[in-house]
Amino acid sequence: MKDNNNSNIKCPIGIFDSGIGGLTVFKEIIYKMPLEDVIYLGDTARVPYGIRSEETIIRYAIENTEFLLNIGIKMVIIACNTVSAIGVKQVAEKADIPVIGVIKPGAFAAVRYSKNKRIGVIGTEATINSGAYYREIKSIAPEAQVYTKACPLFVPLVEEGWIEGDITTLIAQEYLKDLKNIGIDTLVLGCTHYPLLKKTLKKIMGDTVMLIDSAVETAVLAKKVLEIKGLLRTTNPMPKRKFFVTDSPERFRKIGERFLNKPLIYVDKVEIPINYYPFINNKERVIPSL
Ligand code: DGL
Repeated sequence: MKDNNNSNIKCPIGIFDSGIGGLTVFKEIIYKMPLEDVIYLGDTARVPYGIRSEETIIRYAIENTEFLLNIGIKMVIIACNTVSAIGVKQVAEKADIPVIGVIKPGAFAAVRYSKNKRIGVIGTEATINSGAYYREIKSIAPEAQVYTKACPLFVPLVEEGWIEGDITTLIAQEYLKDLKNIGIDTLVLGCTHYPLLKKTLKKIMGDTVMLIDSAVETAVLAKKVLEIKGLLRTTNPMPKRKFFVTDSPERFRKIGERFLNKPLIYVDKVEIPINYYPFINNKERVIPSL
């Protein structure tokens, strides 16, 4: 069922993630498209998605999408690798606006950067078990060798702010030991949280391995799609950013500042499935700035 026909250049871009990690994508989106209004939904009450069943992940993804569509957005960006691996099709069936996940852009970038076509992918258990990155990379470059590894402890480490240090290095060494000895020249960071571990991962994998940050590639693709559809803003005197979460705004603010290196002011708690339409009485759909 399609339930949104309201794709207008002045509408915000809608981004959702299972929680806070998608701010790595948000950051790239506003960097590449500074004139866009952006709404971010972090489903912090139900995170992590990476350990859940496909059925549950798809249900959450659809509920998040419905929330954003009801605000009136012009594009859905699924910042969460886990949802992108499992539920892009179901989200796209809900919306008649462009829907972008992070798997395809990450896979394309990996193939583009890899010289020896030996590519590693790390992500949550659900992402790795889905085989989505493997399939996507193979469909672009059938000759590629793809090696994958789930790294479930990375998400809680980042949430704790332990992005460097002995414990994080030890855990990363353990997860990456096989990938390190297999001759890959490219490693896809297939989870929203992993770009924050870049320094540690780089130290372990060495300079010869290129780390692919899906967030950067996703922002490039999103901009291209908006341009092609004539939906990219070229003027906006005061670009607005607004955050919605399904659990405590305080925790989101605190950890979010670590992701963005700046204070997060406009964070509101909402309930998903929807019982709160933030702009329903506001014809102009005004959202405040960051
Ligand atoms: N956002 C998730 C992802 O990128 C990581 C956190 C979670 O497991 O929900 O896969």
